[in-house]
Amino acid sequence: MSTLVTGIAELVTNNPRLGAGPLGLVPDAAVVVADGAVTWVGPASAAPAADRRLDVGGRAVLPGFVDSHAHLVFGGDRAVEFEARMSGQAYDGGGIASTVGATRSATDEELRARLGALVAEMRAQGTTTVEVKSGYGLSVDDEARALRLAQEVTAETTFLGAHVVPPEYAGRTDDYVELVCGPMLAACAPHARWIDVFCEPASPHAFDADASRAVLAAGSDAGLGLRVHGNQLAEGPGVRLAVELGAASVDHCTHLVDADVDALAGGSTVATLLPGVEFSTRSPYPDARRLLDAGVTVALATDCNPGSCFTSSMPLVVALAVREMGMTPAEAVWSATGGGAAALRRADVGWLGVGARADLAVLEAPSYRHLAYRPGVPLARTLDLSQAT
Ligand code: NIG
Ligand code: FE
Repeated sequence: MSTLVTGIAELVTNNPRLGAGPLGLVPDAAVVVADGAVTWVGPASAAPAADRRLDVGGRAVLPGFVDSHAHLVFGGDRAVEFEARMSGQAYDGGGIASTVGATRSATDEELRARLGALVAEMRAQGTTTVEVKSGYGLSVDDEARALRLAQEVTAETTFLGAHVVPPEYAGRTDDYVELVCGPMLAACAPHARWIDVFCEPASPHAFDADASRAVLAAGSDAGLGLRVHGNQLAEGPGVRLAVELGAASVDHCTHLVDADVDALAGGSTVATLLPGVEFSTRSPYPDARRLLDAGVTVALATDCNPGSCFTSSMPLVVALAVREMGMTPAEAVWSATGGGAAALRRADVGWLGVGARADLAVLEAPSYRHLAYRPGVPLARTLDLSQAT
């Protein structure tokens, strides 16, 4: 069953061979999809016939957002911590322990309901691919449980046992790293595509370069791809370690020295920026311009989590990237779609053309520019192809 999507005032393909500029823009466009894949894109005037039709009435269509960094399996919330932060308290990751407690005591049903609600919230705002990390269980059984639940909603699951040292291992970081690299990894690897580590020597709760290297090496030996939380709170080794080990992405990149930018520019690791975190922790934003000007591939993601940033909104992230990080509206839209796909090493999402998945987002607006131009307005949604007639 093929479906012709028409009435597209502006189509973002992210394929410069299909349209104008880096976003590959096609005005007055149409898209044909069949069996979950795109089979044709081009000007509406040249569109082929299809079994069904869906007219989007002069709206812009873009690839669904690829949110390549989220922590959605958790219990409780940390609204009180957020309020304290807005009165001047700094974020150092210490609150993660309270979410660990709430997550361990939640039932599978409670965790599944929260996870499902957040994924639905994302989808309603145009996100069609989401990565989901563990990292609030921090025991063998609780981490494996988090990943089993995450697998129910996405193929992009990430083992983050090395999020922080849990309270029962306080003062025994080496023992905890051994647990993460041994029995915990063995229990989690079957449910994960990726491994991640919070490499942040400046935080008393996270991991230094040696521990991070050990975790990533063990994950790689177990067949997992590598991701790193790095340089969020201070300059440090995270970015260079990620590039050296060939990680798909290093995320946050808030505090960088020239050597970090040079390493990223010379490597294959995507720099994923999470400006919702700086917004929600009242911190200085990363310098996206510096990275883009150096030729680094930049992705944007939400980091949706109960502590440092509890938003599920890629449109908000796009608006912050433009307003606060020096990105153009076109760069931000690319980074939230094509950039996220690059960070997850996915060739089938983040663009629209023959062979891409039929993951379409539609805007309540005629152009992608409105995403940053109309902040806070619910413009984006995932296009529901079942509405075709
Ligand atoms: O990406 N930085 C480490 N982890 C999360 C925050 C987790 C939390 O505070 O609960 C982050 O910001
Ligand atoms: Fe994170």
